[in-house]
Amino acid sequence: MASNGATDEGATAANIVPWLEQQILTTLREDLSVSEDALTSAVSAGLITEATRPEFGDYQSNVALVLAKKLKTKPRDLAQRFSDALYGRPAVQQVLAPIEIAGPGFVNFRLSDSWVLGELSRMHQDRDGRLAIPTASPRERVVIDYSSPNIAKEMHVGHLRSTIIGDALARVLDFLGHDVVRLNHVGDWGTQFGMLISQLKDVQPDVIEQEGASASSVAISDLVAFYKEAKKRFDEDEAFQERSRNEVVKLQSGDPASLKAWRILCDISRKEFGEVYEMLGIQGLEERGESFYNPFLKDVVKELEDRKLSEESQGAKCVFLDPRNEDGSSSGRPPVIVQKSDGGFMYSTTDLAAIKHRVWTERADRVLYVVDQGQSSHFSSVFEVAKKAGFANDKAKLTHVPFGLVLGEDGKKFKTRSGDTVKLRDLLNEAVRLADEDLQERQKEDSEAQPWPDEERTRTATVIGLASVKYADLSMNRESNYQFSYSKMLSRTGNTAPYMLYALVRIKGIRRKAQANTQQHDKDKDMDKDAPTSTTTALVLTSPAESSLMRHLLKFPRVIQGVADTLYPHKLCEHLFELSQLFNQFYETCPVVNVEDAAVRASRTAICEVTERVLQVGLDLLGIQEVERL
Ligand code: ARG
Repeated sequence: MASNGATDEGATAANIVPWLEQQILTTLREDLSVSEDALTSAVSAGLITEATRPEFGDYQSNVALVLAKKLKTKPRDLAQRFSDALYGRPAVQQVLAPIEIAGPGFVNFRLSDSWVLGELSRMHQDRDGRLAIPTASPRERVVIDYSSPNIAKEMHVGHLRSTIIGDALARVLDFLGHDVVRLNHVGDWGTQFGMLISQLKDVQPDVIEQEGASASSVAISDLVAFYKEAKKRFDEDEAFQERSRNEVVKLQSGDPASLKAWRILCDISRKEFGEVYEMLGIQGLEERGESFYNPFLKDVVKELEDRKLSEESQGAKCVFLDPRNEDGSSSGRPPVIVQKSDGGFMYSTTDLAAIKHRVWTERADRVLYVVDQGQSSHFSSVFEVAKKAGFANDKAKLTHVPFGLVLGEDGKKFKTRSGDTVKLRDLLNEAVRLADEDLQERQKEDSEAQPWPDEERTRTATVIGLASVKYADLSMNRESNYQFSYSKMLSRTGNTAPYMLYALVRIKGIRRKAQANTQQHDKDKDMDKDAPTSTTTALVLTSPAESSLMRHLLKFPRVIQGVADTLYPHKLCEHLFELSQLFNQFYETCPVVNVEDAAVRASRTAICEVTERVLQVGLDLLGIQEVERL
């Protein structure tokens, strides 16, 4: 555990697992004289796990079962000796209820109610709104490469996934206090620009010559169609092909007219990408496209050659990661080609230069690549070459964060009805339109509902529509393929954005009513205005549903840490979904607004506040905005 593992301090909601593990280890070592060798095997088997059922407590350990054989004793006897010794520690008694032994020798731990109330109270009283979640130590510099669409090509659903997942991960790491650098590795360089520039010069020659021409002076309504047109000519017209090749050379050598055309093309795409980012509320994503690394490519290849890592193969310069066959081919993985026989560089070359820059110039501790699963072998090969070449060092961790395909409801590749790629703007707008349709429908059905001004309703629909697209993506294990379904993502039941947003609106309403009620009570009692008002609410635990809710709330800090460690945002979605369900169970059995006992009412109101705050922080980390009503 890199962070929150401090055990010299007391147990907190954030460090409870490593803290308890440390107590267990110390007990085994010091009180039961278990050998280091046996301890190692106990640790590798896992010292504790979360309890599978509430009656088993909060955590379970099977150390006694694992160690009994080694120590030549009966598991139950060992379990008894172990738990007596563990519970003999005063620090442990403050955190745990008396330890129970179950079955053949399982040890069940239950967090003591007083500890639970104390920690929950800390969460409640944190005025920074961080729910007492500590910042990570050490603080790391994390570069996240995400979104990364290609100029003059459609930004597709794969880029959408990368954008949504990358943004959520960036938010989580940032929340934990890491130094996050969000990089958009746009595909803005390469031989395709030769034909694009030739085409631009042919159809709009005046634009290039014009002083101060920019993207807005160009009449290209659809850059993707423009790309297809250029590609068609390139394939059919030899003279055009020749000119395009020359254009690449001119661009590479920095010819002003070619550069100008290139910039114009990039600007047009940039505007389109920007619209999508704006809708999705993506902030802080810095464009650092492939062109940025162009000046470094020659040196990268030279270094590989100097280190005898790259070899000639059919005129190209390649790095072989596996031994070569007699005919020169690879016996295993295909080689990483870093320079083609015509001198051109590759996607991999750029990625090698990027690694070097991110590790040595950006000084990243971690570099995350949120890119589709299809590029797994590209990244594993490139990472390997980078390590061999010293472009990466041991300090910097390079991680590919892969995700699966987006499929249509028919289980096939996601396409429009006519078989074209779906434009992201259209896709997002459609989600918003459907959300709005749903709101209007409900408004009609509910005769008692307050009227809803169009403008306000549209704003709400926009939030719901976009939240639905994001949440549907984030709530899935990113590595599985995900089926895109408007009806599922916009449904108000199940683990969806509308359900979560509704849960938050409802809890807020309950909390407000409860607070208003308390104020009323205070007034009725004609409280002395000058009496000191206590800012701390004493929390009380009155029922099993309340206990389950509280214990779940305390897991939030560890869930956030878990997302940072595993890079799986769906774990956060699961936690929030379960939270809203536990809240419902609590609210069914524990009245909040009208409970007579003022102390109980204050405590339950505080629990509503913490639940509300956890949902708010959680949704915000997923890049989801709140709505005022639904
Ligand atoms: N532009 C690439 C694509 O659309 C993704 C780039 C990912 N990042 C990287 N460093 N290779 O597939």
